[in-house]
Amino acid sequence: MFGGGKQKPLVGLDIGSSSIKAVELKGSKQGYELMSYGLEPLAQDTVVDGAIMDAPLVAAAITSIFERQKIKTKNVATSVSGHSVIVKRVTLPLMTEGELYDRIQAEASQHIPFDITDVNLSHQLLETVDSQMDVLLVAVKKDKILNHTNVLAQAGKTPVVVDIDAFALQNCFEVNYDPDPGQTVALLNVGASVMNINIVRGGVPLFTRDVSVGGNQYTDALQKELDLSFEDAERLKHGENIAGVAGEQRGTILRSVSDILILEIQKTFDFFRATASGENIQRIYVAGGTARVPGLLDLLREEFAMPVEELYPFRKIVINPGRHNEDEIRELAPRLAIAVGLALRSFDP
Ligand SMILES: Nc1ncnc2c1ncn2[C@@H]1O[C@H](COP(=O)(O)OP(=O)(O)OP(=O)(O)O)[C@@H](O)[C@H]1O
Ligand SMILES: [Mg+2]
Repeated sequence: MFGGGKQKPLVGLDIGSSSIKAVELKGSKQGYELMSYGLEPLAQDTVVDGAIMDAPLVAAAITSIFERQKIKTKNVATSVSGHSVIVKRVTLPLMTEGELYDRIQAEASQHIPFDITDVNLSHQLLETVDSQMDVLLVAVKKDKILNHTNVLAQAGKTPVVVDIDAFALQNCFEVNYDPDPGQTVALLNVGASVMNINIVRGGVPLFTRDVSVGGNQYTDALQKELDLSFEDAERLKHGENIAGVAGEQRGTILRSVSDILILEIQKTFDFFRATASGENIQRIYVAGGTARVPGLLDLLREEFAMPVEELYPFRKIVINPGRHNEDEIRELAPRLAIAVGLALRSFDP
């Protein structure tokens, strides 16, 4: 969204609240090939709701990924999400790019609940219908961007692109799934603390929303209900057995949190349907670590009565089996979707 333009190798770097993910790709004859990837866990409260609280720790984790994976590229594409990000679709009368440029500040100040001088603003023409045009406005608080770029600088990296999670997710989806221009799908990225929702038709984002729910809520509920440590609750959530806990107990607690998640998705879909007349969501793709919570995808299928699948970020990316451990990649896959979407920015025209 901000920056980019020049075609040079970029490392996709996703600073999540439970871990940092890095992905580097290269162009190949078949399309794209995975060069390197890495994931570095973060201690709790290092990143809270997308805000970096402990900058030196995050900088050290970034440095450590690059060293371990022997990544030489210093230019990175990163992304932000949450309350400091506003995405609005506005309909304007048809005008030239120059006229739009002049108008955009005034337009944004009507739609964005922050002081316009405090945000970085960008816009993108989505569609023109008859004498009107739909324009996507994206505003990100400057202090949010600085929070990320300062840490990258501390780690000796150069932030070339600052994207937003929902668009990185969409980019990852488009390259891997070649979406049918007429099909409307919902892309979800459910991490530890945030769920990004992006409803898209073909390559056009129709509605995005970030909700503060995620995997931590499952862990919290297991901890509280069963009086467990964070680590034991995480292990239980991942399907391991913990002495004294019956499978049924675990299932009931996970289910109650999944219901909260589903309610948020339902509210978003309802709002979307009410504002975008005639649009019909046909399929759901789920990325993020929480996609793997036992039973969640089945519940989504039941609740929304449509196909639901885990988004596989390497569907169209060649993985050299001599170089990478494919089992490990399959294990981490949904958590790498944003980093893949960001790494793909290297190839943007
Ligand atoms: N196999 C699994 N089963 C259940 N939960 C899992 C599994 N793998 C990861 N998770 C959960 O997924 C979450 C981490 O996912 P992810 O890496 O996408 O989040 P993040 O990017 O760090 O967080 P956020 O984007 O919300 O800041 C954690 O809550 C973790 O417990
Ligand atoms: Mg994340």
